[in-house]
Amino acid sequence: MENLTDKVAVVTGGASGIGAGLAEALLDEGARVVLVDVEQSVLDETVDRLSAKGEVRGIVTDVSSFESVMACADTVFESYRTCHLLFNNAGVGGGGVAKPWNWTPNDWRWCFGVNVFGVGYCVTAFVPRMLDGGEEGWVVNTSSGDGGFQPLPDLGVYAASKAAVSTYTESLANAFVNEGTKLRAAVFYPGGNGLMETRLWNSGRNRPAELAREHPHVDEQWDYATIKEQLAAKGVQVADLVALGHSVLAALREGKFIISLEAKANGELMRQRAEKISRAELPTVSRGGVFD
Ligand SMILES: NC(=O)c1ccc[n+]([C@@H]2O[C@H](COP(=O)([O-])OP(=O)(O)OC[C@H]3O[C@@H](n4cnc5c(N)ncnc54)[C@H](O)[C@@H]3O)[C@@H](O)[C@H]2O)c1
Repeated sequence: MENLTDKVAVVTGGASGIGAGLAEALLDEGARVVLVDVEQSVLDETVDRLSAKGEVRGIVTDVSSFESVMACADTVFESYRTCHLLFNNAGVGGGGVAKPWNWTPNDWRWCFGVNVFGVGYCVTAFVPRMLDGGEEGWVVNTSSGDGGFQPLPDLGVYAASKAAVSTYTESLANAFVNEGTKLRAAVFYPGGNGLMETRLWNSGRNRPAELAREHPHVDEQWDYATIKEQLAAKGVQVADLVALGHSVLAALREGKFIISLEAKANGELMRQRAEKISRAELPTVSRGGVFD
């Protein structure tokens, strides 16, 4: 799909951060964009801000609820009769950092509800209708290097959720090809153009009360401001998220399955891991990985 003019694109988690950057890139290319998000006030602000760029609307949806996702898909197909691009990007950080044995049942329920079930529910709600339409299209699932390449010891629940996204997307991509469909799937690993100044570190703002953490963290929490300072001292700039969005669209046009500005470095990391794995050894990762 070379030309995105008038194509219909749905971006979950599109109100903020990486999703909003992606939405802006899609509008730059003439797509009609539907932002799907659970946070009504920020969704409204983002739709207002981006409407100068083209046709954009918001649909308040909780991707961890299948009913909510189905209602969203119904609205999209009633309004546009089609959907060409589905970006499953909504995600939460898991709620702080913890040793693997200190995550609580509600941490698991919330993080997997949004990051894993949310992706699966959106595929179930949108893809059969995208296939029925018989047009070319893409499903792009946002993972994380933390799940795809290097699971951080202190972010175990988030890493596990993103590993699930990566694996599921590979199944989806192969199924699209094997079944002779016109759809393609890709997995997106944000990063590689600087520090992504998003609100992921503050994901708890959207955490449902019934899934509140059962007790305060027992592990010392990371301080985002300090991490930012340390990265700035190493010369890491704040990322341009619209440019990152454009890089995703360029990679899709090139037919990439893995969308990453750091593909080479990730490949080298995986090669080192594979060597350890082939010797049945533990691939070593420090506490904070890239943040150390
Ligand atoms: N920021 C990073 O460093 C980074 C790195 C790798 C991967 N990611 C991934 O990128 C994606 C976007 O994150 P971001 O960094 O832009 O964070 P963000 O918090 O700025 O954006 C995430 C969006 O998802 C929405 N959301 C949360 N729960 C939802 C739900 N139940 N239903 C619908 N929407 C919901 C939020 O309201 C928000 O608008 C996530 O999947 C995240 O895991 C981020």
